[in-house]
Amino acid sequence: MKINSPNIDRKEIGNAGHLEQHIFAAYVLQAPVHRPSCIDATEKMANFVKAVKFYNGVECPILGLGTYRGKNQEVYDAVKHAIRAGYRHIDTALIYGNEADVGRAINDSIKESAVKRKELFVVTKLPGSCNRPNLVVPCLKKSLSTLKLSFIDLYLIHTPISRVPLGDDILDSNGKLDENGDDIMDDINPVDTWKAMETCVDLGLAKNIGVSNFNSQQLQAVLDDCRIKPVTNQVECHPFLPQTKLRKFCKDRGIVITTFRALGGQVRKPDAPSILDHEVVKKLAVHHSKSPAQILLRWQVQQKDLIVLAKSTNFQRIESNTAIFDFELSEEDMNELAKLECNFRYVPFLEGIASKQYPFHIEY
Ligand SMILES: NC(=O)c1ccc[n+]([C@@H]2O[C@H](COP(=O)([O-])OP(=O)(O)OC[C@H]3O[C@@H](n4cnc5c(N)ncnc54)[C@H](OP(=O)(O)O)[C@@H]3O)[C@@H](O)[C@H]2O)c1
Repeated sequence: MKINSPNIDRKEIGNAGHLEQHIFAAYVLQAPVHRPSCIDATEKMANFVKAVKFYNGVECPILGLGTYRGKNQEVYDAVKHAIRAGYRHIDTALIYGNEADVGRAINDSIKESAVKRKELFVVTKLPGSCNRPNLVVPCLKKSLSTLKLSFIDLYLIHTPISRVPLGDDILDSNGKLDENGDDIMDDINPVDTWKAMETCVDLGLAKNIGVSNFNSQQLQAVLDDCRIKPVTNQVECHPFLPQTKLRKFCKDRGIVITTFRALGGQVRKPDAPSILDHEVVKKLAVHHSKSPAQILLRWQVQQKDLIVLAKSTNFQRIESNTAIFDFELSEEDMNELAKLECNFRYVPFLEGIASKQYPFHIEY
């Protein structure tokens, strides 16, 4: 009998893992038994998602809603629905072209008292075409103006790969193209970009700053010459690419890894393996009476040191992707998933391979 979410039944309550049991209990106990839609029950469930603490004491919800490729009304509806379903961490980027709709959904949710601004953790990113230091603060101001927010909880350098901007002071996620239509690479030292990111904190525009798609050497260069340490490095990570060495590197330096492509993403080359369809993932899904997506998201949150993003604009999947705190993968399950490691990257950023700062030439 379903009592709370499409993915939680009484059997699962009995199996709730001890670590998250109190959170899960709160989740269940606040829910009315009769619900025309699970959203009615979720208004009070803001705390179902645990938080990970950064080195500076700031807490970030362990599960965030990704918005890549979400556009217009669809992403607006998705963000509003996610907030009502308890998500408090929303990830966008200037390059996604959806900051206006994401911001509108956030502001409308606040106006409708579904959430308070201080409860939300909103992330946006500096595009590689604005990595020149003089463009960083103006670019964040532009994002904030589009989002209609006075500050961002976390601002990330989206990529160490810099592209030549369209003009000296043009803030656009598109960069200049050569005669073949290829991106023109810009030679920017990420440490210089980082110093301008620190100014964003000084000005109160960003509460936290971090990087994305940085390798260990790029991160170390920032660490060696920064006033404010990055709180996170947002990178691709899943059982095909568990990022064991980069995670250890970051952990040793007090930097949390945030992961994307946990579900393998939307666009796949025809020959790319689908992690959602992998037979081990599907077998574990049957065994735990969960979906393959829930197995993959559980793998992430069970690592203890990861924050994970999952993108969906489908209401049912937005909700079901949260039902990952009521079961545990056993050591044997985790060992089986560990065998899937094959160093496969869904997002190799090959368009930037000519850049001096291409991050994936080295092992991690
Ligand atoms: N920093 C970076 O360079 C970078 C790169 C990539 C992504 N990101 C961030 O990370 C977020 C997540 O990554 P991603 O969007 O690339 O990939 P993802 O979250 O791994 O996968 C999203 C895809 O999975 C589908 N999906 C969601 N829930 C599902 C479920 N329960 N069962 C089956 N399919 C499901 C979604 O379709 P529906 O929408 O139809 O449900 C969508 O097609 C992004 O949205 C973005 O915010 C950052």
